[in-house]
Amino acid sequence: MDFIDLKTQYARIKASVDGRIHKVLEHGQYVMGPECVELERQLAEYVGAKHCLGVASGTDALLMALMALDIGPGDEVITVPFTFFATAEMIALAGAKPVFVDIDPVTYNMDPSRLQAAITPRTKAIMPVSLYGQCADVDAINAIACSNELPVIEDAAQSFGATYKGRRSGGMTLIGATSFFPSKPLGCYGDGGALFTNDDRLATIMREIRVHGQDRRYHHPRLGLTGRLDSIQAAVLLAKMEVFPDEVAARQRLGDRYAALIAAKFGTGPAAKVSAPRVAPHNTCVFAQYTVEVEQREIVETRMKTAGVPTAVHYPLALHMQPVFRHLGYKEGDFPHSEAAACRVLSLPMHPYLTDDQQVQVVDALAAAVA
Ligand SMILES: Cc1ncc(COP(=O)(O)O)c(C=O)c1O
Repeated sequence: MDFIDLKTQYARIKASVDGRIHKVLEHGQYVMGPECVELERQLAEYVGAKHCLGVASGTDALLMALMALDIGPGDEVITVPFTFFATAEMIALAGAKPVFVDIDPVTYNMDPSRLQAAITPRTKAIMPVSLYGQCADVDAINAIACSNELPVIEDAAQSFGATYKGRRSGGMTLIGATSFFPSKPLGCYGDGGALFTNDDRLATIMREIRVHGQDRRYHHPRLGLTGRLDSIQAAVLLAKMEVFPDEVAARQRLGDRYAALIAAKFGTGPAAKVSAPRVAPHNTCVFAQYTVEVEQREIVETRMKTAGVPTAVHYPLALHMQPVFRHLGYKEGDFPHSEAAACRVLSLPMHPYLTDDQQVQVVDALAAAVA
């Protein structure tokens, strides 16, 4: 069994992927070709944002958003310590200081009730993460940001396709940043990402940053990067968009079924040996990861591996405990919900082509492993 099976998906969309890639090879506009333009149009419409920019990765998307907001040395950006490293890494790489607030232990996303207390005169932005495929509580976060006149960047790397109160992830904050890493809900065949905004000025600035800060050929009012998505990746993503709504529906069905199988096997409530993820009532989740909580995780992981079921840990060490962030002065115990999650979370195989039998096999292996 694969943790994420991309081969079955490729078999389904092979004709479209191959045909679209072939077209790029023939027309030769490998960078910023017509596929990139068409993809940006489709993604902007899908997300409900005025502007979409295809970029080189989710990491670059975060950095470019911070650069566009002129964030740098002396500034603080608030995020969560329970996320993939890139979120806080890009804040630090931009020269700013990551300031952490703890997560809500139910959704694993930023707890908005802790946000105001973390805001200082140096705060320049808030960067919530929509972890595992469900959106952070963006209305509450936007409201606090608005009353403090701060911009919000949603790290939507794991939540492309998810909805919050009927709106799509990526389009609900001043800037949304996503990733098209192959294992993401919408993934290309290499690195890729996208930025979303309704703000014309920021869109122009981010377009400049994407190409070395140039506003016209060889004229540079600002610094930037080689931050573009290439045409072959855009071609792959256009092919995948043909089946994406169907795949999102499959992810939701499989998520519900996992939850039912886990509840039947382990029960629910605080005494259950395995707890399934909980999706907030106003959210739909794309389950970029299907992540449960267990005790004695290492033993469970080893036993499941022996039973032929791959698992992964997203993420084993909260970011305030990472060696590179030691200088920030945080200590163990500062973010108890993030620290507890880092010790207990375990992601199970999840992708739209997982069969019902495979799900039963996973949950049976989990039951044997925790026994
Ligand atoms: C929450 C989060 N932010 C940022 C990134 C970075 O995206 P990329 O790998 O495309 O650079 C990821 C990717 O794993 C992620 O999960």
